Amino acid sequence: MSLRPIVHADAEAGGRAVAERVFDLAAEAIRARGAFAIAVSGGRSPETMFRAFASRRAAAAEGEPWTVLWCDERVVPPDDPRSNFGLARRLWLAPARVPAERIIPVPTELPAEQAADRYDGLLRERFAPGASSPRPRQAFDVAVLGLGPDGHTASLFPGRPSLAVVGRWSVAERSPTQEPRVPRVTLTLEGIGHVRHAIFLAWGAEKRPVLSSLFSDDGTTGARDLPAGRVRAQESVEWHVDRSAWPTGPSA
Ligand code: 6PG
Repeated sequence: MSLRPIVHADAEAGGRAVAERVFDLAAEAIRARGAFAIAVSGGRSPETMFRAFASRRAAAAEGEPWTVLWCDERVVPPDDPRSNFGLARRLWLAPARVPAERIIPVPTELPAEQAADRYDGLLRERFAPGASSPRPRQAFDVAVLGLGPDGHTASLFPGRPSLAVVGRWSVAERSPTQEPRVPRVTLTLEGIGHVRHAIFLAWGAEKRPVLSSLFSDDGTTGARDLPAGRVRAQESVEWHVDRSAWPTGPSA
C-alpha cells in the first residue's frame, strides 16, 4: 500500500469532501465521454456522501447522465434495513429523484447465485470492452468502497474463495464473515479493477488497526493480502480517512 490517506477532521467533513471529489470526476467524465457511472457501497461510511449528493440534486438528478450501481449488496428485499440499495434510495436516490433507468440494482429478488449471474451480465453488457450490446459501451468511472475492521471491502472477505474468482465481474458470497451474515452479491477484485478511480472511505477509531496494517511501512505481507489492500483500478486508488481512524498526519 503505497499512497498515504487523505485525512479529514471527521466523518462528516470526509463525506462531504468525497462527494466533491466525485462531482469533479463526474464533470470530467461527462465532458470527456458524455456519461458517468459510479458503484457505491453500503454500511455507515457513505451516509454523509449520499446526503451531500442529495443536497446538490445535480448528482444524477433528472437529466444528469449518471448511472448508479453497487459494489456489493445483501440479498434481502429493498425495504429491508440491511439493503445497500435501500440505504442509497433513502438518503440520495429518492430525495434527488434519480430516474430508475439510471439505476442498476443487484436483482435481489433472485437467489444469490442467480442474482450474481444476472448482475454480472448487466455489468458486462453496459461496461465490458467489446460488448455486443447495441447500447454504446459506457465507462465505469468510480467505485466508492468501505473498509471493514477485518480488511474486507465490498463483500470480499479475507480467506474466502470469492477473492480468487477471475473471469467474472460479480459473484455470490454465501458466507460473509462479518454482520450482516446474509447472502451477498459482490464485485470481484477483477470487476472492481475495471473502474477508473477507486475511492476508499474509512472513518472512526475502529478502523485504526486495519489501516495501520494496510499502510504499515514494514510492508508486512499479511496486510497486503487483505482484500482492501488488493484493490487495483485503471487510474487511481485513493483513501479518505478521518483523524479518529488515522491520528497522525495533517488534516486535509
Ligand atoms: C457492506 C459494505 C461493506 C462496508 C464495510 C464497512 O455491504 O457491508 O459494502 O463492505 O463497506 O463493512 O462498513 P461501515 O461503513 O459500516 O464501517
